[in-house]
Amino acid sequence: MKKNKELARQHRVIQEQKINNLEKEKKILSMASMIDGQESERIRIAKDLHDGIGGLLTSVRTQIKRIEKEVSILSEFDLYKKTNQLIDEAATEVRRISQNLMPSVLRLEGLEVALEDLCTRLREVHDLKVDSHFDFRELNISETQQTFIYRIFQELTNNIVKHANATEVLMQVNNYGDHLNMIIEDNGQGFAFDKLEPQGGLGLKSIQSRVDFLSGEMEISTAAGDGTSISINIPLEEKREV
Ligand SMILES: Nc1ncnc2c1ncn2[C@@H]1O[C@H](COP(=O)(O)OP(=O)(O)OP(=O)(O)O)[C@@H](O)[C@H]1O
Ligand SMILES: [Mg+2]
Repeated sequence: MKKNKELARQHRVIQEQKINNLEKEKKILSMASMIDGQESERIRIAKDLHDGIGGLLTSVRTQIKRIEKEVSILSEFDLYKKTNQLIDEAATEVRRISQNLMPSVLRLEGLEVALEDLCTRLREVHDLKVDSHFDFRELNISETQQTFIYRIFQELTNNIVKHANATEVLMQVNNYGDHLNMIIEDNGQGFAFDKLEPQGGLGLKSIQSRVDFLSGEMEISTAAGDGTSISINIPLEEKREV
């Protein structure tokens, strides 16, 4: 009788664990698909803005130049100058917004150049010594996946600039055929990862969601005064179309 009760209790515990795991999986999935939806939407809006409105503004500028050729006196009017200035401002603003939504370097030149660009910025703007090595040999991943990886590195480098107080950074991506390994290390002040407040920043949480969405794993190795090393593995064999 006692044995039966114990068995029933164990069965209940296992069932509860299964339900917990399922709920967790469901949560990760819905978060991942939300992020995926947001990212595809951002890419779409960035393209529409850049190619659509950006293109239109370029045409407006060309037309106005034509009118100026016909009516050369126009260039002496303040109102005309101001109009030109406003068109330039609108074009810059469109470029700025679409750049934020999806960096044009990523759109035009792909992930490797975009990551090199991040490194150059760390070197030139933030005076960091950056050692980078990217091996993307025949890496065939979708635009959304590329954007995810770019955003992960973008947030990790933001964190280095914001929190690490480092002088050196190592950034690596290696394609091992069945998985992609990304490493980012700094020699800064490090932090106590397990003592982070749950209600704290969003950066690492959003990185974790992106890694989950890519079915990957992230390992953070850091300690106060000891720099930070983050390694992320993304499986490649799963040819998921996103
Ligand atoms: N490379 C790093 N070096 C030192 N501390 C770091 C580093 N990366 C993260 N941290 C610490 O981890 C915390 C959490 O980082 P996270 O990116 O989640 O949030 P945040 O940067 O504070 O805010 P948000 O990203 O939302 O703007 C940071 O506040 C910082 O204390
Ligand atoms: Mg952050």
